[in-house]
Amino acid sequence: MRGAWWLVATLPLLWGFAQERRTANDGLLAPRGSLTHDYEGVELPEYYTSGPVALADNTPSDNPITNGGANLGRVLFFDRRLSVNDAVACASCHQQVNGFADPRPRSAGFRGGRTSRHSMGLINVRYFFGGRMFWDERAFSLEDQATRPLADQIEMGWLDMRELTTKLEKVDFYPPLFRAAFGDDEITMDRIALALAQFQRTLVSYRSRYDQALKNPDHLDKVLTADELRGMALFGALKPSEMEVYDLHGARSLGCANCHQTEAMISGMRPADPGTAVEDRGYSRALRQGIDNGLPGNPVQFKAPSLRNIELTAPYMHDARFSTLDQVLNHYSEQVVTRRTLDPRLRENEGTNDPARKLNLTQEEKEALIAFLKTLTDRAMMEDPMFSDPFGWPPE
Ligand code: HEC
Ligand code: HEC
Repeated sequence: MRGAWWLVATLPLLWGFAQERRTANDGLLAPRGSLTHDYEGVELPEYYTSGPVALADNTPSDNPITNGGANLGRVLFFDRRLSVNDAVACASCHQQVNGFADPRPRSAGFRGGRTSRHSMGLINVRYFFGGRMFWDERAFSLEDQATRPLADQIEMGWLDMRELTTKLEKVDFYPPLFRAAFGDDEITMDRIALALAQFQRTLVSYRSRYDQALKNPDHLDKVLTADELRGMALFGALKPSEMEVYDLHGARSLGCANCHQTEAMISGMRPADPGTAVEDRGYSRALRQGIDNGLPGNPVQFKAPSLRNIELTAPYMHDARFSTLDQVLNHYSEQVVTRRTLDPRLRENEGTNDPARKLNLTQEEKEALIAFLKTLTDRAMMEDPMFSDPFGWPPE
């Protein structure tokens, strides 16, 4: 009994000690666990390292992924200190378990204000050709993008970036991380942007069932079910010769892969108007910035983030109008709006000014497509410590 009392009496002390070890000199949480992951050593499958996906890689020659840079980028990405009042991190709106998107239709910023558009899943951002960022591609690169949420008066709230660098200089764990990344302790906005971009370029998904299937490209049916293969054919990701192999002779392709391209499943070079923008809730804000105004030469056009992990990134589209994949398919099936700006690939005859094509999907076709889209889910990535929160912040 006496022993038990002793234990009860010391528990608060032990607890306090554990807390203290987790706290940095500014009284906020310090990162824990391994901060030295081997990002450079990740071996991506060949369809990522050669061919069209590799050609679309937007890594600039002056900011390749290094272990020091990506490790620093991870800490920055998950650190709430990056908002002016320590309220939100990049990861608050780009959550690992949700494919680095946000389950909230509009994310909450540092003072609870709402973003005008849905947060984007960040997986495979590295393979968006040309590297322009945001739904409307208004940022020129990941490096350029990184500073924008920091300065945004809804998202992270900085008016003077020098206050941010001064703040980080005073946090004990940052100078060594900058030294490991860039050779010395100096903390600049440029370096913050470079490191954030490096970390985000490590967010590549290659461990889904789809990837397992691609290990045997001539026998996809070793991993994928008949339904999933039918969905893959509908998506447009199977060649006619492959359809023969899987008894899908004559199956129709809906041409999804014309826009959601390659194994990276990401928008290609040209942005597309998928016939959704009329209800754009971000419209007024976008208009102020001189985009989305529908004027000739300046049409409404959006890119799509990678469809990898699409099962986890709901709600869907830039305005989060759809909460399920079923609703997305109903859109493509019957609800695409014919407008001047509509992408030719969604018209009755591709490349003409015809009205929007109605796909008239059957229930079985929808189910097959959704089954295929779910093969893109990469649970290993959602749990990988390389991409996880090193701080363990309490819920917001
Ligand atoms: C308050 C929520 C919020 C915070 C905080 C936030 N983001 Fe975002 N992020 C968004 C939203 C919303 C979008 C889409 C905005 C748009 O297109 O207008 C977005 C878009 C992006 C994109 C574009 C992806 C693409 O495929 O084009 C990147 C990259 C990104 N964020 C990275 C970051 C980084 C890095 C940070 C931290 C420095 C950050 N975000 C902080 C909500 C947030
Ligand atoms: C003309 C090019 C084009 C075609 C063809 C196309 N898409 Fe899209 N898709 C887009 C664009 C662009 C977006 C983003 C639109 C937006 O946010 O308003 C998008 C968004 C999506 C989304 C939601 C992505 C997200 O992160 O919110 C899904 C799912 C999707 N498409 C699936 C499909 C399927 C399945 C097909 C085939 C039936 C298809 N797409 C055909 C261009 C296209």
